[in-house]
Amino acid sequence: MASAPRSRHLYIVTGSSRGLGAALVAQLLQPGHVVLGMARRFNDALQAQADASGAALTQWPVDLAEPLMPAERLAAWLGEFDAAPPASATLINNAGLVGLPAPLGEVPLAELSQALRAGLEAALLLTSGFLRATGGWAATDRRVMNISSGLGRRAMAGSAAYCAAKAGMDHFSRAVALEQAAQANGARIVSIAPGVIDTEMQAQLRGADATRFPERERFAQLHAQGLLTSPADGASQLLARLQHADFGREPIADIRDPIGKP
Ligand SMILES: NC(=O)c1ccc[n+]([C@@H]2O[C@H](COP(=O)([O-])OP(=O)(O)OC[C@H]3O[C@@H](n4cnc5c(N)ncnc54)[C@H](OP(=O)(O)O)[C@@H]3O)[C@@H](O)[C@H]2O)c1
Repeated sequence: MASAPRSRHLYIVTGSSRGLGAALVAQLLQPGHVVLGMARRFNDALQAQADASGAALTQWPVDLAEPLMPAERLAAWLGEFDAAPPASATLINNAGLVGLPAPLGEVPLAELSQALRAGLEAALLLTSGFLRATGGWAATDRRVMNISSGLGRRAMAGSAAYCAAKAGMDHFSRAVALEQAAQANGARIVSIAPGVIDTEMQAQLRGADATRFPERERFAQLHAQGLLTSPADGASQLLARLQHADFGREPIADIRDPIGKP
């Protein structure tokens, strides 16, 4: 068995082009880290930061609403590390989209399909590819962090596809946690609600049509009262949780709860 070089840490982050995902990547760009970002758009600022930081950043411009090819490509890319597996390997399924909030019957079918495929199917397929490709890395600390939402646990009118994607993400994480607990060097997996983050997603919610989205005013008030967390603060809280010794003890978490509380 090849020994794991203790200095190298691998991170895969989806939805890396902006918002929370870009902030996660920015903080992961440290010497010894190999970071792979996926989104439809390339982020030039992150690439410049990587070049200056001594970290390796690769960005794949991929549409995760067509997740089969990216999942197969991820497994093949991870296979390139088989000869010298890293000390740790982490998949952060962060990509998601809320779309324009409206009752289910009024949302174009293509938008619903995209929300479910990019928000749920992609996370599940990427997790499968990641677990398969890294399963033989006996000395590697393997973790999956799924960025869920309180809306996977509480229903909200006007966001049926988003609520369903996040509930599905939570539940497949529970199932995978059971599977991995039964394996030697099983991966740890947590589906975590990140709090309310000041990103384009929040702007979409408070900018929605109130007649089609009853909770619009609540999101407007969160912004007006300065209650949104910055992407940088949100990312550093999530990364602290990811590195915590108790990460994975419970598969469902909320960043606003102390660690260990389901
Ligand atoms: N903001 C909040 O308050 C909040 C609260 C709870 C949960 N969350 C969750 O946190 C995560 C990050 O959200 P955010 O607020 O940072 O959202 P955001 O600013 O809208 O960013 C979403 C990211 O997902 C990527 N993405 C969307 N559709 C994609 C597709 N088809 N293929 C590839 N990438 C795609 C986007 O990149 P491209 O457009 O370049 O493809 C972008 O990088 C999401 O899972 C969200 O559900 C956010």
